[in-house]
Amino acid sequence: MSKSKKKDWKTRLIHSDTSIPQGFQSLNVPIYRASTVLFPNAAAATDHWNQYDVGYTYGLYGTPTVLELAARVCELEKGLRTIITPGGQAAISLIHLALLKSGDHVLLPENIYGPNRQCANDLLRRFGVEVSYYPPEAGAGIISAFRENTRLVWCESPGSITMEVQDVPAIVAAAHGRGALVVLDNTWAAGVYLDAFAMGVDVTMQALTKYVGGHSDLLLGSITVRDPKIFERLGETHQVLGCAASPDDAGLALRGLKTMAVRLKAVEQSARQLAGWLSARPEIERVLHPALPSCPGHELWKRDFTGSTGLFSIVFQPRFTRRQVRAFVDALELFKIGYSWGGVSSLALAFDIQSPRRPAYGHRLVRLYTGLEAIEDLIADVEQALNAMTKLS
Ligand SMILES: Cc1ncc(COP(=O)(O)O)c(C=O)c1O
Repeated sequence: MSKSKKKDWKTRLIHSDTSIPQGFQSLNVPIYRASTVLFPNAAAATDHWNQYDVGYTYGLYGTPTVLELAARVCELEKGLRTIITPGGQAAISLIHLALLKSGDHVLLPENIYGPNRQCANDLLRRFGVEVSYYPPEAGAGIISAFRENTRLVWCESPGSITMEVQDVPAIVAAAHGRGALVVLDNTWAAGVYLDAFAMGVDVTMQALTKYVGGHSDLLLGSITVRDPKIFERLGETHQVLGCAASPDDAGLALRGLKTMAVRLKAVEQSARQLAGWLSARPEIERVLHPALPSCPGHELWKRDFTGSTGLFSIVFQPRFTRRQVRAFVDALELFKIGYSWGGVSSLALAFDIQSPRRPAYGHRLVRLYTGLEAIEDLIADVEQALNAMTKLS
């Protein structure tokens, strides 16, 4: 339709001739929300997922906001490409489904994040994938867990509840010797305190929901790779699973990234101080914080990590009952009860750690996350909750 021809107002609602000043520059990445992406002509239209090769094609594969987040996470983790997913668990399932097929075998540490275990046990087994578990401390000893058809080995270091630090380079050496790929859940270290690719890891994933988001108000995940062939397999599977990430959430995550260094520093300091304080308390049998020598794998943490973050666990003395441990959590006032750490608020959760997740701490384990509250107040809160708990018989 020529511009001179008068358009009906209903058409103008969609096709307007207005113009506004150009050249707006903001410090922030704009939020591009879109499903449809326009092509210059009929021949240019394609539904190819790899927008790095063919240009923008469809919102599912990422608008510029989502790709900017992907590029920044990739830069931090020193990868080649990153795929953003609608949550950390979506990243986990996508990796499983992209890199495994019927008849393959996958190895996971016994302490792996619960929904990852469920995905392997319930979904992968249904599709003919063999699943087995290895002790997280196995290191080079993992070799005895390999089968002829082992194609993928998961690491999560430290384990997000029982906090075992893994010997990732030793596991990588064993896996590569058997032709298997290694995936690392790098969420605890926020993708910055462990240089996974330098250790030979093939794929890293993170729940950006935690430290990158940083305010407990979004769900996003990332998968980062160095090998273009692995990127192809992940990209193709991402397309058919249709797991699009929200550009609004990506915008929030980009904002979160800007302050992540100062937030991480603050939660690291608080967690270390609280962990040290708890180590001296008579109610506590063990503090599971990788920066403390009492934590399984502490020496590996010193060797491989450049920092610690806000998440750690405590194990109460055997004399404390389940009721008392729960009373401790309930008595906390500043520490709220909830999943998904990495935000500004301190959190606590009581777990029941039973075999096959080792060691069997039973009802005595509580996981703490220190947020940005003043450390004196957090210590006072924990102290009053310990006192309330010990009063219960
Ligand atoms: C270690 C770890 N990996 C992955 C996830 C999954 O992330 P999301 O909650 O974004 O699905 C979590 C969430 O708690 C986690 O703790």
